[in-house]
Amino acid sequence: MRNGNGCSARPVIRATTGSFILSDKKILVLGGSGFIGRHLRARLAGQTGEDQVVATYHETPFSGGLKFDARVESLAEVIPGLEIFSHAVILLANAHPDDCAKNPEASRALNVTAIKAIIDQLAEGSVCPVFASTEVVFDGEKGGYVESDPVSPILLYGKQKAEIEEYLGSRVPSALILRIANVYGSDPAGSGVVAGWYKTVTGGAETVKCAHDYIASPVHVDDVAEAVLRLVEGKCLGTYHVAGPQPLSRLEMFETLLEEMRHSGPVDVDVVSCSIDDFSTEERRPRDISMAVDKLVAETALTPRNLRSACRHLVNAAEQTAA
Ligand SMILES: NC(=O)c1ccc[n+]([C@@H]2O[C@H](COP(=O)([O-])OP(=O)(O)OC[C@H]3O[C@@H](n4cnc5c(N)ncnc54)[C@H](OP(=O)(O)O)[C@@H]3O)[C@@H](O)[C@H]2O)c1
Repeated sequence: MRNGNGCSARPVIRATTGSFILSDKKILVLGGSGFIGRHLRARLAGQTGEDQVVATYHETPFSGGLKFDARVESLAEVIPGLEIFSHAVILLANAHPDDCAKNPEASRALNVTAIKAIIDQLAEGSVCPVFASTEVVFDGEKGGYVESDPVSPILLYGKQKAEIEEYLGSRVPSALILRIANVYGSDPAGSGVVAGWYKTVTGGAETVKCAHDYIASPVHVDDVAEAVLRLVEGKCLGTYHVAGPQPLSRLEMFETLLEEMRHSGPVDVDVVSCSIDDFSTEERRPRDISMAVDKLVAETALTPRNLRSACRHLVNAAEQTAA
């Protein structure tokens, strides 16, 4: 691993009997039971072998997972001997902006205090932290944010993430910060906004309200997992935006899904275009938090998929399940 931004080299994937080598050391996934964590565990285990990946959960157990409550336990208590890991992917968080705003002390205890303690222990064990930050470290006034743009969060959740970015910058220069855009998946029964809409529409909703003025660069959960793998393998350090290929409003996202659903048959739902301000939220939402993904693409050769192809995949998967 080297100091400073960027990858030590374009990732070189060495094939060994159909799998790949990351390094002799293991990868730790903190928050392996969450939406991103489940997909990341599967991707890493598929690449490195299951015994190379150790992952934690809090309330949602999974086979081989280690129970860890970051608010009351120290990482070293739960996982002694951190030196066996090259990287620790820090996913665990309260990732719900409204919940963070409603419960500022509890969310700070997890998203800031506990994460700082984890980072300190990782630094002692010479483990590279891979921190899951967010697009809402930006204020949404500009859109198309690049990694060098100054952060200016307006949501408490974004402020908590920005505080950890700053902590890493001052304490652990050999870290990887991933500012992840809004994540969706193409499992019709799974998590994320697109699958949520699919369930709403197929559940018989007559009307769906979507904001035309809330713009992000949605990214597929499997592309997030792939980005982590490639950045880790490339020994990359510094800050990367992990985003989809294009900025889209919520309304454009929903219409894309509907168009793909209508290829399979009529869909009877009224789409109501509204402002993000028409939704009840604890804090006013930023407007255009889209991020440019060029740095990630240039340094890892990853091509994030577009939303339309993912929606098509979701619709096809649902049809196959129903058949
Ligand atoms: N999803 C997105 O659109 C998105 C976008 C940008 C950034 N991110 C960031 O990416 C990370 C993962 O997001 P996600 O969507 O996968 O979140 P998620 O599904 O809500 O998962 C959160 C994870 O944190 C764990 N956790 C919760 N409380 C904990 C505690 N007290 N101690 C230890 N672990 C605890 C959960 O464990 P249990 O489930 O077992 O309780 C779960 O594994 C988060 O840091 C989030 O801020 C997500």
